[in-house]
Parts: sequence; C-alpha cells; structure tokens
Amino acid sequence: MSNYLDATEDVYRKAALTPDVGLCCTTTPVWQLPQLSIPKIMLEMNYGCGSTVHPRDLVNNPTILYVGIGGGMEVLQFAYFSRKENGVIGVDIVDEMIEACQNNLVLAEKENDWFKKEFVSVRKGSALALPIEDSSIDVAAQNCLFNIFTKHDLELALKEMYRVLKPHGRLVLSDPVTENPMPESLKNDDRLRALCLSGSLPLAEYLKMITDAGFGTVEVRAKRPYRILDPGHYDTAENIFLESVEVCAIKDPMPADGPCIFTGKTAIYYGNEQYFDDHKGHTLMQNQPLSVCDKTAQAIKNLGRKDIFVSESTYFYDGGGCC
Ligand SMILES: C[S@@+](CC[C@H](N)C(=O)[O-])C[C@H]1O[C@@H](n2cnc3c(N)ncnc32)[C@H](O)[C@@H]1O
Repeated sequence: MSNYLDATEDVYRKAALTPDVGLCCTTTPVWQLPQLSIPKIMLEMNYGCGSTVHPRDLVNNPTILYVGIGGGMEVLQFAYFSRKENGVIGVDIVDEMIEACQNNLVLAEKENDWFKKEFVSVRKGSALALPIEDSSIDVAAQNCLFNIFTKHDLELALKEMYRVLKPHGRLVLSDPVTENPMPESLKNDDRLRALCLSGSLPLAEYLKMITDAGFGTVEVRAKRPYRILDPGHYDTAENIFLESVEVCAIKDPMPADGPCIFTGKTAIYYGNEQYFDDHKGHTLMQNQPLSVCDKTAQAIKNLGRKDIFVSESTYFYDGGGCC
C-alpha cells in the first residue's frame, strides 16, 4: 500500500477516536427533516464537504451504498429515506471509524423512534475493492473521500462504484475541486491529501474521470467556496481557491455522441413562433426556460440564431432538461 493511503487511514483513525470539528467543513446546511434527530457527536464528526443526500434520488425503496462512513451522519440521513433492514450498506477501511459509526448509530436509535440500527449494515473494505456484488445498488454515495485518491486510484474507485450500481443507478459525490494549479509539493504531501486539501482536480478533469468510467449522464448540482490555501500557510506562491462540488453520475448508457453533462445551462427561445424544434429531441417553447446539457447548449449556440439565448453554467442543476 502506498504512503498516502496509510497516512489517510492514520488521519481517520485519530478522527474516529477524537472528533475533530474543523477537519473538513461544509457550507451545505445539515438536513432538518421531520422526526430526524442527529446525535451531537455525528455533527461533530461531519467530515464531508457537501451533501450527498438528495430526496429525489431516494424513491422506490432503494438499496444504498455509502463509502467512507465517517461518524455516520449521512448514513443516518439515507436510512431516513430507505427505512428497511440493510437498506444502507456502509463501507469503511478504518476499524476505529467503523466502531465509532456503529456507536453513533446506537445513539441515533435512542433519539429517533423510526430508526433501527439494523437499517444499516457496515462492512470493512476499501473503496478501491468494494466488498459488494455487481449491479446490486440503486444509489451509491461518497463524501470527501475520492478527492484524496491519486488519479490512478480515483479511476479504480469510480470503476468499482460503476460495477456495483444497477443500470440507471446513481452515484452521488461531493468533493473539493480547484481551477488553480496545485504545486507538486502539495499534491505529494500525504497528510494534506488525507485532509482533503491537496488532491483536488479541476472540475472538468474530475467530470471527465467520471464519464470515462462509463456514466452516461452527469449532473453538477452545486458548487460552493470551500477553502483557501495561501502562501502564508502552505507551500504555494499564489492563493489556491478550493470549491466543493456536489455531483450525481447516472449509470445511463453512454450516448453515441458523448456524455450528457448538466452544469445548469438553460436555453430560451424568444422568436416569433410558438416553439423551436432542433429535431434532435429538444423543443423550446416560446419564452420558456429549458435546462440543457452542455453538449446540447453548444449545439444550439452553433446554430448562430439571434432568437435563442443560452445561459452560462450555474453549477446548480437538480433535474429536468433535455437528454
Ligand atoms: C473525509 S472522511 C468523510 C467521512 C464521511 N463521508 C462524512 O462526510 O463525514 C473520509 C472517510 O473515508 C474513510 N476511508 C479512508 N480511506 C478509505 C478507503 N480507501 N476506503 C474506504 N474508506 C476509506 C475514512 O475512514 C473516513 O471515514
């Protein structure tokens, strides 16, 4: 095993034994849902950088896989929606984290009438070789783990998620990304990587790794400011701005002309007809917004029409649209 994976286990072993409130951070509000009480220690052990729990993904009694369980807060939130024995399978490589999560789930059972700890089954295993059968999962999630991996290991981890998902299953991810160059000295700092600070990729590269794993549809649901690595505290000549993204990758077949990636672009036809039809499956009603994937946005722009507006990416896409 390479050093950075050892360093990662070490960081999270300590974070399991002593909650570290500042370890990761999220500006995504913690879900407040009827009859959901999240034990204080789970909040203190919120080591994610966004949210991977989206009620819209969680219809039809899904079986959920959560990789890198941390203190169990999101595992509990997923169980809120699945509410069946073994409905949520948690996987983690650190024994101490598994034990902490299981203890926290016992507390959660005391605080929540609807919750039984049997709703969650926790297995020891690695994101790089999941102890899960092929095509058995409806919704898989990871929060702030995959950014730690080198590109080689990220490729493996995404392949594993793709393997275990059912056709049309969803992989929900939350990770830091950055558009600034990351100095090699920071990239190769095992501890900074483990702390989710120096493994970040530019968003387009991160999305390409996801689509290269085979996911035919990808939604960028949110992008928020996350951290600054500045020359006063880190080995960098310039500030490095990290953002945290929330992405959903769907195991849809890959379209012949490439993946559909939704980044929040919208097309609006404002001509004189009732609608505009591109004869490729997209009908723009007069002055009605239509969310379009980036591929379609570009194709519409290429038409060069003066009566169609195509917005920039908002990085806030959560449903509807063209493909
Ligand atoms: C940054 S924490 C995120 C925890 C949780 N997802 C959250 O949002 O609070 C990373 C988690 O991944 C686990 N982990 C680290 N390396 C792993 C690996 N190779 N496979 C599976 N889990 C791993 C750690 O023990 C820890 O629970």
